[in-house]
Amino acid sequence: MIGYQAENHLFTLHTRSSSYQFMVDPSGYLLHTYYGPRVGGGSFAYRLRQADRGFSPNPNSEGHTRTFSLDTQPQEYPSSGVGDFRIPVLEVENADGSRAADLRYQSHVIRPGKYALPGLPAFFAKEEDAQTLEITLEDPVTGLRAVLYYGVIESRDMITRAVRIENAGDKPVALTRVMSLCLDLHQGDLDLITFDGRHTGERHPHRRRLAPGIQMVSSTRGATSHQHNNFIMFCAPDAGETHGWCLGAALVYSGNFEAAVERTQFDTARMTLGISPWQFRFTLAPGETFTAPEAVMIFSREGFSGMTHQFHRAIRDNLCRGEWAHRRRPVLLNTWEAAYFDFDSEKLLEIARCAAETGVELLVMDDGWFGTRNDDRGGLGDWFVNEQKLPGGLAPLVHAVNELGLDFGLWIEPEMVSEDSRLFAEHPNWALRIPGRPATRGRSQLVLDFSRTEVWQYVYAQIKKVLSSANITYVKWDMNRSLTDVLSAALPAERQGEVYHRFVLGVYAMLEQFRKDFPHILLEGCCGGGGRFDCGMLYYTPQIWASDNTDAMDRLLIQYGTSFCYPVSVVGSHVSAVPNEQTGRVTGLDTRAAVAMAGTFGYELDPRSLSVAERQQMRLEIDRFRHLYDLIQYGDYDRLTDPFAPGPFTAWQQTAPDGSAALVTVVTGMARSNDAFATVYPRNLLPDALYSVNGADAVRGDVLMYGGIPLPHVGGDYRAMQFELTRQG
Ligand code: DGJ
Repeated sequence: MIGYQAENHLFTLHTRSSSYQFMVDPSGYLLHTYYGPRVGGGSFAYRLRQADRGFSPNPNSEGHTRTFSLDTQPQEYPSSGVGDFRIPVLEVENADGSRAADLRYQSHVIRPGKYALPGLPAFFAKEEDAQTLEITLEDPVTGLRAVLYYGVIESRDMITRAVRIENAGDKPVALTRVMSLCLDLHQGDLDLITFDGRHTGERHPHRRRLAPGIQMVSSTRGATSHQHNNFIMFCAPDAGETHGWCLGAALVYSGNFEAAVERTQFDTARMTLGISPWQFRFTLAPGETFTAPEAVMIFSREGFSGMTHQFHRAIRDNLCRGEWAHRRRPVLLNTWEAAYFDFDSEKLLEIARCAAETGVELLVMDDGWFGTRNDDRGGLGDWFVNEQKLPGGLAPLVHAVNELGLDFGLWIEPEMVSEDSRLFAEHPNWALRIPGRPATRGRSQLVLDFSRTEVWQYVYAQIKKVLSSANITYVKWDMNRSLTDVLSAALPAERQGEVYHRFVLGVYAMLEQFRKDFPHILLEGCCGGGGRFDCGMLYYTPQIWASDNTDAMDRLLIQYGTSFCYPVSVVGSHVSAVPNEQTGRVTGLDTRAAVAMAGTFGYELDPRSLSVAERQQMRLEIDRFRHLYDLIQYGDYDRLTDPFAPGPFTAWQQTAPDGSAALVTVVTGMARSNDAFATVYPRNLLPDALYSVNGADAVRGDVLMYGGIPLPHVGGDYRAMQFELTRQG
């Protein structure tokens, strides 16, 4: 609910359990007053304190009053170059070379429903479930306008932000930094949590106390990156899973980003989130506009799990679209780790036959089916079937796989081109390259210039033809290198700072076209595993391959970090062969299955290499996953332990929203001789309800939560246990 008090120019945005407030001051500045637990009403304007602070200048409109400075006031969308020296939010270069903007309130409008952003992903809600506040600010000197969008999705505790910059002046202006979100918190003694890592080790949480100065994570790789996620958290220093306040913020975007926070001289904190300003420069001619992507926030006073539950619901119900958003996803078997590039129709059919016996529902043919793609040095860009491997094209193979009772899916990597390809021979300047400079390769491939509509449309037309040639029900959209040599042959020198962003817009445009033409195809995102795992992609692909690391023990860490923002239903997770291809570790099939059940669940191995007993076990595990499907995919997710902290096991829980059932999964670490008795403590049960654990006599919910479930001594390393709690009364 969005409230406006005209007499004191105060805006209050209420969600189910949080409130967010700011006001327009007499000079037209938007000053932030509060973000925290929901309040019944009232003004927090008294929190805005003013004093004459040395070296904090005063706007001219204040006359000679020295107590008001933009440098010290908490603001909503601060201008730069006119007296605020904290992390800038908007930076411009005006036609006269000056770098100042001074945005003041002009007007506002409150509307039912949630705004959408043209060409960009955004959370959505039914008209009656959301509201939008649009505030127009203007620089009186240049005519530059900023339209701030606030969306409130009340039941999800979600506040969304976006901004549209309009050049309403009569001269061009260059934007060099446009953050989507600025949050000026009134206290600086906070912890910041970021989710960081590397290829095959993504989204490990790192928590630290804010120190004076700027702390930042970012990506300059053209995609969100394996190194830092564009979801971050703040919390009270004493906050944890079930207590203390915290807030999470995510950028709904899949390109370069920057998340920065400054603990200021007066012990407040400013957080900014948006497109990375690195190499960014977007020129607006008079009348032109630029829309910055959406950023979203959820506040919880019930610790991290409260925030996580709300992010999970919002991503499932207010971000993932199309028929697959809520449809039961198939248990798939992907051929990558089973065959790599070495396959033909016959081999695939043998794999499919074997997979069908174990209950697998979908066969995914990964990389290597097109052009001359026999290794990772050639073929990208040539999206026609390699008939030496698949005689007669896709149709006969897909038909035969369908006859076995399996659906069929395939892998694509549309944004890339190999130098050894027909596409590159015909259109060498369609790749991002700097004339006169040798091209930088990544995985022996170059990046196509998706900022050019004709380039992505050409690639799409080829792929569309292939997809229309057979009964394809799933596509994995991969991206296997970072962007370098970023220069578009289609833009003049002064517009090259737009290419990174225009590239992302091209990717989104092709994804949108794909969704329109193939609404029945389940799209899974991928970027060498989890290098583009973000809310932007989830608007188009309702699941994303979480990591190229399929080792169960490493996955515990990756999936733990991922779970803070992203729900199980979007986390691509498979059982692979042992010794694991990435770590060489050996874990039991049951452990690998239990870990993959904290995701979309599937297989990434050659079932023909399994023993009869293992295949029987595989069948049982697939049946078990099907039986637990709704609980796993739609249950409220709780992290019961922190796998980065020392301890004998890692545990998590999925609980039906009505409390009628729960699944507790435990995975032990290295075995220790004569170890202490271990107990796992479930959460989130109905205290008065009776639950049976794996079919045993029923016990009260509160007894289970406070007394815990004793873990049997199972012996051996990396053992998994699952406890199914079923309400009996
Ligand atoms: C990287 C992906 O993450 C893998 O799963 C696989 O699809 C390869 N690319 C194929 O090249």
